Amino acid sequence: MSTRPIMVISGTNRPKSNALRLASIVARHHARQGVTVDLLTLCDMPHEVFDPIAYAQKPPAFLAIQQRVLDAAGLHVITPEYNGSFPGALKYFIDMLKFPESFDGKPVAFVGEAAGHWGALRAVEQLQLVFGYRNAHVFPNRVFIPAVNEKFDGNANLDPTIDERLANQVKGFAAYCHLIGQSRK
Ligand SMILES: Cc1cc2nc3c(=O)[nH]c(=O)nc-3n(C[C@H](O)[C@H](O)[C@H](O)COP(=O)(O)O)c2cc1C
Repeated sequence: MSTRPIMVISGTNRPKSNALRLASIVARHHARQGVTVDLLTLCDMPHEVFDPIAYAQKPPAFLAIQQRVLDAAGLHVITPEYNGSFPGALKYFIDMLKFPESFDGKPVAFVGEAAGHWGALRAVEQLQLVFGYRNAHVFPNRVFIPAVNEKFDGNANLDPTIDERLANQVKGFAAYCHLIGQSRK
């Protein structure tokens, strides 16, 4: 496996999000594969990044996050569905990252979660368009989690069927990142 980390991105800045709970589970599955994991929550975006000047001049705290994205062997994105799409904070994060090197040739996997029946299918498909535009390699095995709030028990344990789907996705994605990494050497 690659020694470069796989970055797991919790794709919202909403506090106590399901995305972050799921991102932590995905990160644990990667660690079990022997992969180095870098977990990023969009709650960690520095507030100065929302100053309009940030388009031209990135705040130092954001430059550190930018470097983590560049260093990652792959990006595993967990997105909720907000208003039939992915969160605006996630799009803003993407827009703040360096063009084109942040996603060019970068493997990316998606997990969608939503309160509704479609499990953030729309959010993930819209993200695929954005990452496709940026020449990322989209991992074909996507995981959708409908009615997400019913998938955790009172002790915050995830439904075992969903957990197994995430574990399988992680296994395949780690191998995919490794293969793409080798082919780019
Ligand atoms: C701003 C906002 C918009 C939402 N829009 C949708 C929606 O379009 N479809 C849906 O199924 N659920 C929608 N929901 C419910 C969320 O998908 C659900 O609560 C999800 O788990 C929230 O993700 P988070 O905890 O990771 O923030 C919305 C929630 C928020 C906060």
